[in-house]
Amino acid sequence: MSAKLDVVILAAGKGTRMYSKTPKVLHKLAGRSMVEHVIDRALELDPRSITLVLGHEAELIEKQLGHYDLKYALQQEQKGTAHAVEQALPYLDDEAMALVLYGDVPMIEAQSLQKLLVCTDKDSMAVLTCVMNDPSGLGRILRDEKGKVKAIVEEKDASAEQKVIAEINTGIMAFPVKRLKAWLPLIKNNNAQNEYYLTDIIELALADGAAVNSQSCNSETEASGVNNMVQLATLERAYQQNKARELMLKGVSLRDPKRFDCRGDIDIAGDVKIDINVILEGKVIIEEDVVIGPNCVLKNCTLKKGTQVMANSVIEDAEIGQHCSIGPFARIRPGTLLEDEAKIGNFVETKKAHIGSGSKVNHLSYIGDTELGKGVNIGAGSITCNYDGVNKFKTIIGDNVFIGSNSALVAPVTVAQGATVGAGSTITKDVASGELALSRVKQSNIKGWKRPTKK
Ligand code: UD1
Ligand code: CA
Repeated sequence: MSAKLDVVILAAGKGTRMYSKTPKVLHKLAGRSMVEHVIDRALELDPRSITLVLGHEAELIEKQLGHYDLKYALQQEQKGTAHAVEQALPYLDDEAMALVLYGDVPMIEAQSLQKLLVCTDKDSMAVLTCVMNDPSGLGRILRDEKGKVKAIVEEKDASAEQKVIAEINTGIMAFPVKRLKAWLPLIKNNNAQNEYYLTDIIELALADGAAVNSQSCNSETEASGVNNMVQLATLERAYQQNKARELMLKGVSLRDPKRFDCRGDIDIAGDVKIDINVILEGKVIIEEDVVIGPNCVLKNCTLKKGTQVMANSVIEDAEIGQHCSIGPFARIRPGTLLEDEAKIGNFVETKKAHIGSGSKVNHLSYIGDTELGKGVNIGAGSITCNYDGVNKFKTIIGDNVFIGSNSALVAPVTVAQGATVGAGSTITKDVASGELALSRVKQSNIKGWKRPTKK
């Protein structure tokens, strides 16, 4: 089947009711644009080609989808869904099946598309339908006395009786390309909106002796299109609910599944505990026995077995070893690598930092562009001064170094293995192994000193 499938995704519409500068299909659902969700589902069918029909903001959309292998058809003026499909015809193989999807129906499942394709052959077309609680605004499916689909009527053209019908057209249809090419040019625009409706193809197919089959999809969510921000938010919640359920069924404990957001591609082991308001973005891998406190944001990172991330921490582009402890209120920035059992405490920021196993940066520190060995202790308030206003420089700290509180390490600088830096020092010169470095003004106590009094 797959070698003979050509997919067409309609995405030329402006999305007026979104009231947004961003073209509708680029609005995000679970961190990915709606059209990317649709493309990903189409790819699951292993098609010969995917053609995107674009109009409004075509260039911008094309640019955002550069990572896919797609064909693009331009629909200069949006004259209706049939006219949109017509623009893609030059890309369709006469011997193939065409599957028409909508760029703004993002939760469609590959399984439903597969079922639809199974009931389409060279002498028949098929339409994906859904029974909706509230069908208003959508095209209704009209069936004959034998229950066969005989037509679709748009809401704006429907009689009061037809508006009562709850079975709607999802817009998703499959055709043999050869027949599609014959039927499309026959569609007229004599309707309430003066548009070329793809839905009119049903009557043309029947008149031409073809069969019109239908399949219904699993849920309303799957069939739901997005026309405004309310519908987008509703689908976002449905997506998150599905994702939370899928995780819990694999043994992940979510303190409140309603307050969990996945905006990427995640891989979470069983026996992981996630507290409320945690956001996972991009590619996130979490191994077993990890515990994540409330209000954490984790983006493109790996957390190995047994690590604990405490409340209000943000981790991005980082790799965290086993049994580490992070936060509360820690910020782990890109390029951070924590070896096993390292500890990052409150109000600590790290960036491009390799932190050796068992090392501790417990309070109020900034560690950037740093190689830090094993068993190091960085005292409260100590920072690496990695930037001279123009260039960045590296700090190297050996195993078992002790940096006293409130020290400034001015890079480039090396503090060798086992060295100690006294509290409050500003270190500008390398410190050799085992040495104590002190660079603070000596304390002087003035005897008999009197505080000034008010005149
Ligand atoms: C369409 C269907 C309706 C169905 C509903 C499901 C028709 C005539 N109506 O109505 O039966 O219930 O979808 O959501 O087909 N598009 C273009 N170019 C155009 C017009 C539309 O690319 O000239 C694209 C839009 O970007 C969108 C899709 O086609 O992705 C649907 O268009 P829209 O205007 O939203 O159609 P509806 O009126 O919702
Ligand atoms: Ca629509």
